[in-house]
Amino acid sequence: MKTEITELLGIEYPVIQGGMAWVAECHLAAAVSNAGGLGLIAAGGAPAEWVREQIRETKKLTDKPFGVNIMLMNPESEKVAKVIVEEGVKVVTTGAGSPEKYMADWKAAGVKVIPVVASVALAKRMERCGADAVVAEGCEAGGHIGELTTMVLVPQVADAVNIPVIAAGGIADGRGMAAAFMLGAKGIQMGTVFAASKESVIHENYKNSILKAKDIDSRVTGRSTGHPIRVLRNDMARKYLELEKSGAPFEELEQLTLGSLRKAVQEGDTKNGSLMAGQIAGMIKEERTCADIISSTVSEAGKLMNGVSANE
Ligand SMILES: Cc1cc2nc3c(=O)[nH]c(=O)nc-3n(C[C@H](O)[C@H](O)[C@H](O)COP(=O)(O)O)c2cc1C
Repeated sequence: MKTEITELLGIEYPVIQGGMAWVAECHLAAAVSNAGGLGLIAAGGAPAEWVREQIRETKKLTDKPFGVNIMLMNPESEKVAKVIVEEGVKVVTTGAGSPEKYMADWKAAGVKVIPVVASVALAKRMERCGADAVVAEGCEAGGHIGELTTMVLVPQVADAVNIPVIAAGGIADGRGMAAAFMLGAKGIQMGTVFAASKESVIHENYKNSILKAKDIDSRVTGRSTGHPIRVLRNDMARKYLELEKSGAPFEELEQLTLGSLRKAVQEGDTKNGSLMAGQIAGMIKEERTCADIISSTVSEAGKLMNGVSANE
């Protein structure tokens, strides 16, 4: 399946594994890249040297292209931006802010820059400052989210910019991929389905929570603080939402979420951990390999786009 995204990134299928703090490490990234997509290591809030180590490990596990996702609000991001250049990483996706100040260095090093955006305005700004593509992420997604749904955001971004658009948020099979292409996307990014994959290193309790989740099991915490995050409902989410409703101060809310994603990923604490996952978790029922997820998604999408029913 050739699109502007496969050409840009030198990959077989226009499928990107979303950067996911604590979740997207070398094994997951390499599995996705080896299966013909683009795997990403998520820098999250980790020290820059951890990111360097993960890049080196990923290179041992795959000779295919892979990238790094950097959260720009992280105090380490300046150092991570340098590590990306020093280690010869070819693709970077950015979240939580604008990568403008790193653009010149990355471009000079031949790094392809793909910011994640949740609005038309940010997409246009990213195109102006030299982005190679954008990920338009709808609020169905797991983790930090914006306001608009994928259905509404993707076509508006696709109309507004001339660089290729990658759709993210609520995609986990060929129907979602085909729909994204109909909306004007040239590639897709998936997160939740890869978090629940065989190669994902998250604790089995967290994985099982995703596999067991129903369509209506996610909640959005942090709307009142301006940092909305989609998680699966559990004790932590309930407490957080109650505190938000009662007008609790920011510090108290912050205290509740401190280290909570790590608790879910590494300790399997499904009560007090932050079980970040998208609305599509309701459709993810079994733990599959990344290769299986990618090949079935691409082949189903291909059939649908050629007008053949995927069930035939
Ligand atoms: C557990 C989890 C952690 C995430 N962490 C990040 C992150 O560190 N940086 C980022 O840009 N996006 C992050 N995301 C968003 C994903 O990269 C991706 O865009 C999103 O999951 C796509 O929507 P989906 O969950 O419906 O597949 C995270 C998502 C999940 C589920």
